[in-house]
Amino acid sequence: MQLQDSTVLVTGGAGLVGSHLAERFLEDGATVRVVDDLSKGSRERVPSEATFTQADLTERDDVADVVTADLDAVFHLAAYTDTNYDDDRKLFEENTEMTYNLLEQMQAADIDKFAFTSSSTVYGEAPRPTPEDYAPLEPISIYGSSKLADEALISTYAHSYDIQSWVFRFANIVGPYQRGNVVPDFIEKLDDDPNELTILGDGRQEKSYLHVSECVDAMQYVVENADDDLNIYNLGTKTTTSVTEIADIISDELGADPEYAYTGGDRGWTGDVPKMRLSIQKLAALGWEPAMSSHEAVRHGAQDLIAEIVE
Ligand SMILES: NC(=O)c1ccc[n+]([C@@H]2O[C@H](COP(=O)([O-])OP(=O)(O)OC[C@H]3O[C@@H](n4cnc5c(N)ncnc54)[C@H](O)[C@@H]3O)[C@@H](O)[C@H]2O)c1
Repeated sequence: MQLQDSTVLVTGGAGLVGSHLAERFLEDGATVRVVDDLSKGSRERVPSEATFTQADLTERDDVADVVTADLDAVFHLAAYTDTNYDDDRKLFEENTEMTYNLLEQMQAADIDKFAFTSSSTVYGEAPRPTPEDYAPLEPISIYGSSKLADEALISTYAHSYDIQSWVFRFANIVGPYQRGNVVPDFIEKLDDDPNELTILGDGRQEKSYLHVSECVDAMQYVVENADDDLNIYNLGTKTTTSVTEIADIISDELGADPEYAYTGGDRGWTGDVPKMRLSIQKLAALGWEPAMSSHEAVRHGAQDLIAEIVE
């Protein structure tokens, strides 16, 4: 699909990835509408050239108001994104309900292009690097379960109801405006006390990080170049960064030299996948590779966030 001159709806467009994606599509000449309930995102992040509607996508009437027949495509990024959210049932129900509401309304309005942001968490604790066709998919968190349930709905609409779909299984994304993730958390903690840093787990959890600027580049490249009924792509970097290495990078950027206090155990919380690295061979074969390593993405993201968080 070509984005230029198309009209797209970006759900969750007041959040980290959605706001950058909306900006990218506007630069490319698309007409962009953003919908977000502002439960986590903020209005100021929505680019001024985009039309904005504040609405809750778990409400079917709200969905019917924004998913109108003049759209060419829906990019669905809205979700409860705190992986250790304290109300599991709400997280599962709301994430799956939003996706189902959107697909149902798209079918009613005859819109046939849908892109969705899934997650590495659908794989659970799989061998690494994990390719898209790895099976069986055994998520270990309710967040991962909700993403896999979303993917099942999307597969059904792609194969039985002609809604061509792109599913992106993200590694960890870092960049400006991010909150409630290891990088902004460490910056906030070190800004409060540069001499000590509490690290969840043993610090050896090791994941791959992708900068949000490269994430939106990759999403755009894939929707413009992959043309199956259902296109599933991992987005990430080839390398990983451990939690202790993240602490080292952030301390270095802040000019701090803290003592690390580990809470212990091999993972940060129940359902945390301690080691994650996605295969990005399928993405490379389509013609796109990230320029930054995982460490570079973390450093770049930390620099973005330090400029926002530290006075
Ligand atoms: N950031 C990551 O590392 C990462 C990793 C894997 C997958 N993802 C997925 O990518 C997408 C974007 O992530 P992000 O980091 O930008 O998250 P984010 O939390 O910054 O953005 C999500 C947005 O959705 C909105 N939202 C939540 N519930 C809503 C509702 N009921 N109705 C309307 N809007 C609602 C929030 O207000 C927020 O602005 C999400 O689907 C997330 O699950 C992100």
